[in-house]
Amino acid sequence: MVYNGVIERYKEYLPVTEKTPIITLKEGNTPLIPASCLGSLIGDNFAVYLKYEGLNPTGSFKDRGMTVAISKACEEKATAVICASTGNTSASSAAYAAKAGMKCFVLIPEGAIALGKLSQAFIHGAVVLAVKGNFDTALKLAREITAKYPVTLVNSLNPYRIEGQKTASFEICDTLGNAPDFQLMPVGNAGNITAYWKGYKEYKEKGNSTKLPKMLGFQAEGAAPIVKGRPIKNPKTIATAIKIGNPASWKTAVEARDESGGLIDTVSDDEIIAAYKLLAEKEGIFVEPASAVSVAGLIKLTKNGYFKNLPITAYQLPIAIVCILTGHGLKDPERAIATIKKPRVLKPDLKVILKEMGYY
Ligand code: F0G
Repeated sequence: MVYNGVIERYKEYLPVTEKTPIITLKEGNTPLIPASCLGSLIGDNFAVYLKYEGLNPTGSFKDRGMTVAISKACEEKATAVICASTGNTSASSAAYAAKAGMKCFVLIPEGAIALGKLSQAFIHGAVVLAVKGNFDTALKLAREITAKYPVTLVNSLNPYRIEGQKTASFEICDTLGNAPDFQLMPVGNAGNITAYWKGYKEYKEKGNSTKLPKMLGFQAEGAAPIVKGRPIKNPKTIATAIKIGNPASWKTAVEARDESGGLIDTVSDDEIIAAYKLLAEKEGIFVEPASAVSVAGLIKLTKNGYFKNLPITAYQLPIAIVCILTGHGLKDPERAIATIKKPRVLKPDLKVILKEMGYY
């Protein structure tokens, strides 16, 4: 069967009708990859999977929400959209707006966007406006603009974004045959944790799964308003995608945590980089730093004994753990280059090269 994107696949769960023009780049249908190396770290009773959302058309999970938000904007005859973004939302909105023939404005915090994401917004023809300030400042401005001018907000405050993003939880259930026992993910503006939790609950209500996962969210230590219980004025982390001090969906993230019996915790930048390298070197998966946060969280919880102390008999084995990898590594090539040793420049001499390779 031809795959036509998340709206067609899950339309009975989405706010669309025959009248909705479907703007799609065939997003979704991303692989759930067994993580053998990570699985062996935790123990025999566990199966760890990686939901590789970096394989969406613009390289992040945002495309799932953007197809619904832009399709609905089109249905409502909007001609322009705007978002504030740490990068991925701007890349996605620029691409989907281009496909829909709409104007796209993006407000970005000056100097804080990874190169790959910025290049996407530019090449898709968005009007990129860099604001002196952080993401929270940019989002406030975007909200003010959309309250007064005929421009549609496509941040995750737009409920259609959440609707589209929840399809990732449907895919996980469809692949595993049930919901996982635990789901780990990064938390920034907190729309995605809100979307997954909504999706898991709806799928269970419809009888497509019999359980709900514990939602385990992670924020970077220097940008952890939900964990600290207060907005952070100057958030700091190398994971620029989640450098957010006052998440818009704070309340619903806390609900997801509490209703599921999960947690929201922090990981340090060093832990993020260690997970980033481990994913690339041991699992063969290149993600951007913010996406490595879920695996950094998994390693932290494993070290803390969180999984060891579970009442194993209460579970059907193996216990299924899913880590969401939200964005592709090529989004932030500069971070990868900064993390590795620079290649040595050698003479074009076979012996010299073979020696370097360890064969001589
Ligand atoms: N991972 C990546 C790669 C992201 O780009 C984001 C958010 C998140 C995780 C966190 O998701 O905000 O729903 O909690 N990026 C937004 C943006 C803020 O503007 O691209 P969240």
